[in-house]
Amino acid sequence: MARLLITGGAGFIGSHTCVVLLNAGHDLVIVDSFANSSPIATARVANISGLTPNQEKERLVIIEGDIRDEGALSSIFENATKQNQPIEGVIHLAGLKSVMESITQPLKYWDVNVNGSRCLLSIMEAHNCRTIVFSSSATIYGNPESFPIAEVDPIQPINPYGATKAAVESMLSNLQGNKAIWHIACLRYFNPVGAHPSGLIGEDPKNIPNNLFPLVCQVAIDRRKLLNVFGGDWPTPDGTCIRDYIHIMDLAEGHLAAINSLLRKESNYLTLNIGTGKGYSVLEIINEFEKTSGEKIAYKIVNRRDGDTAISLADPSQANKKISWRATRNIEDICRDSWNWQRLNPTGFTMDKVI
Ligand code: UD1
Repeated sequence: MARLLITGGAGFIGSHTCVVLLNAGHDLVIVDSFANSSPIATARVANISGLTPNQEKERLVIIEGDIRDEGALSSIFENATKQNQPIEGVIHLAGLKSVMESITQPLKYWDVNVNGSRCLLSIMEAHNCRTIVFSSSATIYGNPESFPIAEVDPIQPINPYGATKAAVESMLSNLQGNKAIWHIACLRYFNPVGAHPSGLIGEDPKNIPNNLFPLVCQVAIDRRKLLNVFGGDWPTPDGTCIRDYIHIMDLAEGHLAAINSLLRKESNYLTLNIGTGKGYSVLEIINEFEKTSGEKIAYKIVNRRDGDTAISLADPSQANKKISWRATRNIEDICRDSWNWQRLNPTGFTMDKVI
């Protein structure tokens, strides 16, 4: 078991990953700016993991901070070493993730995502910590020509957000060079959705959501009247876009498998698709969600959204081969857990409703 630093550990992916890592026996230090996350999420991580207040002090340390603050990052590594529990690996999830915002504010994205990663890597190097799992994205494949998408397919991001993820992958690959002293995994997520089955943690977008699942949930709970389906004329069987939706707990388990493999020094450099290999159209998702929740999802087909692509579908076989991971949850589990989270937390993590 190791002491790990989780950047962005309070976010959607971070909180679920922390639950899985704690359950596997790792001790965690979270650094999160709370720019797009809530401290309530980390309190609930402790609750789900059954940590007593004393255990929490040792096993789930939470530090509010920014990955661009080299002084703050340095102190985290120094303090851990002083306590005789040095940070042995990092799971780097902190970053900005709105495609639309990245188009209007590209420099902000290059600063937080790329410069932030550079700061983190330089502090890691200074403290002799060279094991990192990086949150990359399938968005770096742009508009692929064939499916399913394999890791060797061309990287051709079509928006600044994707460009920053591809840039960090390049930085990591340069760092690796031929010295083989780093242990690095880039996980290319497809569409992470769902929630922890307890309903205590889930996705809580701070502003108006852009992504399909939070919007479907909000229509189901009557926070929104209607779902706009972006395009009914795509080259797919029912005319709506197809995506590879992956349950957030499967994704979290992918992080555990990756960091454990790196800590065992099984590989120096891994690039892995984290998806299911199964695609669903927007209309299929609406149907599945209605069946599972018993709620009607009112929708209207509107124009295509700029920047969308007809199909996104992973070939996840490398992850199975290299780190023995594969998704085990299905679309019904995804819809059930998303709806459970939404019902129990109709307004997300609000201060007036700590479960
Ligand atoms: C989006 C991002 C991607 C990011 C991912 C994180 C874009 C263009 N891509 O992927 O970079 O990694 O989120 O999960 O923003 N849809 C509707 N109506 C809506 C919202 C979505 O029909 O109101 C459709 C979209 O057209 C798409 C599907 O639902 O076909 C999924 O959309 P979304 O959840 O936003 O994910 P992606 O666009 O695939």
